[in-house]
Amino acid sequence: MNGLDPTELSHRTELSHYAEKLIRGRHATRAFRPDAVPEDTMRAVFSLAGAAPSNSNAQPWRIEVVSGARRERLADALLAAHAEQRTSADFPYSEGMYAPVHQERRAAFGAGLYGALGIGPDDHAARAAYDAESLRFYGAPHAAFLFVTGDGGARLAADVGAYLQTLLLAMAAYGVDSCPQGLLSFYADTIRRELGVSEGKLLVGVSFGYADDSAPVNRVTTERAALEATTAFHG
Ligand SMILES: Cc1cc2nc3c(=O)[nH]c(=O)nc-3n(C[C@H](O)[C@H](O)[C@H](O)COP(=O)(O)O)c2cc1C
Repeated sequence: MNGLDPTELSHRTELSHYAEKLIRGRHATRAFRPDAVPEDTMRAVFSLAGAAPSNSNAQPWRIEVVSGARRERLADALLAAHAEQRTSADFPYSEGMYAPVHQERRAAFGAGLYGALGIGPDDHAARAAYDAESLRFYGAPHAAFLFVTGDGGARLAADVGAYLQTLLLAMAAYGVDSCPQGLLSFYADTIRRELGVSEGKLLVGVSFGYADDSAPVNRVTTERAALEATTAFHG
């Protein structure tokens, strides 16, 4: 059929089945149980994430993982920075970076998320309060911070994006739930100071642990654009 012997073919079928399950089965988790991830699982996950591809294999990332008392202290510092409006983002952000179609998808996502939380579309205060509280990592016992090293430019940030997805999938494969949180990157100076980091630009934080399955917010589902809307096949 495609030149593969039956054993190889069955291996490929099995692998694609697991890839479908792993990639489509990963979801952002926004309520966690306090249980810590065992150290050997943690090492396996971050070691696997390090297998991510990067341009010329430069691996321009630096990862800082925080747990325990340091995590508590960092969450307090983040909420204090938020209260005092001490934001500092290494990567510029503006609403204008989104195209209208992106804005439509964002609005649909927001309606699903805040709807599950019982927060109405015009209740900006409640939405803001929920977002501020997410600086406690949605209750996750651990958070990882992904820094772009080198000049921290767009090309190197793309490599760290590849690391991010590899990390999320590695976590999912090991039964660890996660939420990437761009919001954390708006407090780069606070995170740097609390963790004693001097190198790199902060791209994103990832809260992780084990999902609280009783939380309705963890049942939020997201759609994806149709294949044709994003992908063209030439030739
Ligand atoms: C770079 C990046 C930043 C994100 N920032 C946040 C965030 O600050 N807060 C949050 O709750 N979710 C955040 N998310 C999660 C997205 O909302 C989520 O991945 C998206 O809605 C698709 O849902 P799914 O991950 O459950 O498939 C972020 C995801 C990515 C990749």
